[in-house]
Amino acid sequence: MAQAFGDESLGRIAAEQDFLRRLPAYAQTTSLDDLRAADYGRLDRCGCTYLDYTGGGLFGESQVRRHHELLGERVLGNPHSHSLASLASTELVEEARAAVRRFFNAPEDEYEVIFTANTTGALKLVGEAYPFVRGGRYLLSYDNHNSVNGIREFARRGGAAVEYVPVRRSDLRLDEKRLRSALSVPGSGADRLFAYPAQSNFSGVQHPLEWVAQARDLGWDVLLDCAAYAPTNRLDLQAVGPDFATLSFYKLFGYPTGIGALIARRDTLAKLRRPWFAGGTVAFASVRAKGGYRLTPGASGFEDGTIDYLGLPAVTIGLRHLESIGMDLIHTRVSTLTAWLLEELVSLHHGNGAPLVCLFGPSDTQRRGAILALHLLDPAGRPYDVDEMEKAASQAGIATRTGCFCNPGDGEVAHDISREDMELCFRESRGLTTLVECQHVIEDTTGKVPNTLRVSLGLVSSFADVHRFVTFTKSYLDCPR
Ligand SMILES: Cc1ncc(COP(=O)(O)O)c(C=O)c1O
Repeated sequence: MAQAFGDESLGRIAAEQDFLRRLPAYAQTTSLDDLRAADYGRLDRCGCTYLDYTGGGLFGESQVRRHHELLGERVLGNPHSHSLASLASTELVEEARAAVRRFFNAPEDEYEVIFTANTTGALKLVGEAYPFVRGGRYLLSYDNHNSVNGIREFARRGGAAVEYVPVRRSDLRLDEKRLRSALSVPGSGADRLFAYPAQSNFSGVQHPLEWVAQARDLGWDVLLDCAAYAPTNRLDLQAVGPDFATLSFYKLFGYPTGIGALIARRDTLAKLRRPWFAGGTVAFASVRAKGGYRLTPGASGFEDGTIDYLGLPAVTIGLRHLESIGMDLIHTRVSTLTAWLLEELVSLHHGNGAPLVCLFGPSDTQRRGAILALHLLDPAGRPYDVDEMEKAASQAGIATRTGCFCNPGDGEVAHDISREDMELCFRESRGLTTLVECQHVIEDTTGKVPNTLRVSLGLVSSFADVHRFVTFTKSYLDCPR
């Protein structure tokens, strides 16, 4: 157990001066301190050091106020009818669609914006409707979220081949040679989909966005999962050009939860075949004329049932909020804080010279986002219990996250868990049903620790936040397990 850690504010002022000398660009982002005080005051009132932005972004209180004011001023009914209440909702829904297009530079003649419940909902729309057939392929990087991994079940059902491109253990980046050779395999004429995250939600690795154009030139459709990337990086879809981009709005600006988007190239969208129809998606259907139905063209044909028409105006408000701050400013803020955090953490050593921090993923600042996945090691090089660390952090008011973050590929490579190790968990005779049971089996049989602590930064992260985490980490120095 770590020693209690004292008042970190003692050294913070000097540390911040040193930080500003090392990373002067942070000084350009002081408007975010004012914003935090004015609009996110609850963080400091509650003494919360929030380091789980990749889990969920935080909203500014003004966003919620503006949304509630709007709901209080207008009578809003179910859209797509001709009453004033209905028309008012339709207008706000279309305003949100236009705001999404503007924010991500997804011109209307090229891209359709489809509202979903979250990133997962957007991915499922693609998976269930993509024309996976024998001779087709689903190629994906190891470091995808499970909601992208899950599309392989649709691919297999359709008869398409599924292939993963691994990440390297040293830095959890993709083996580009392997990727190039997988992309270059000649196609059979059947459709082929390549999926990767713009940023790994485990390691923070940012893959080259140029892969989109390269893969498309070789005849692939490309699904770019932007859920972890979009909150702190400018994303220009016209420039990058993916066939499908997916994201959740709560990760960008905290509120509302329950709304995401599939932003899809119109020409690629046209080849998706929805497996069903439903209210909202169907222009007309018949009970008597057997099998008769016509899907609504465009986005509506993919929006099942009634969309969240009261929540969608909050998406417009959230995007305006980010526009008023500036994505480049947010990016500068989190990049400088990440750089400092990396430098500080890797410099920590026990009295015997052994490193305290084992980082999974790149330790440099190139092509990486504001996510750090790590273990803390004792002087003998064994990891401290990850769940205990999360609890201790929580008691110190620091919100982090543990587990594999629904990213089993990065987790398996980071912790050197082999196919054979994992197969132990899938043996019927073991009857495992939970991740924790699976982790215990791996740990007991192999001695490997398949659990990780993740810290992630966002919109109103501050130097005090990262300094507090480093101070917390230092409390483990020379600590017995
Ligand atoms: C890269 C990535 N993809 C997909 C998802 C799934 O997002 P949601 O749970 O909002 O559907 C996440 C969530 O953390 C993510 O980080």
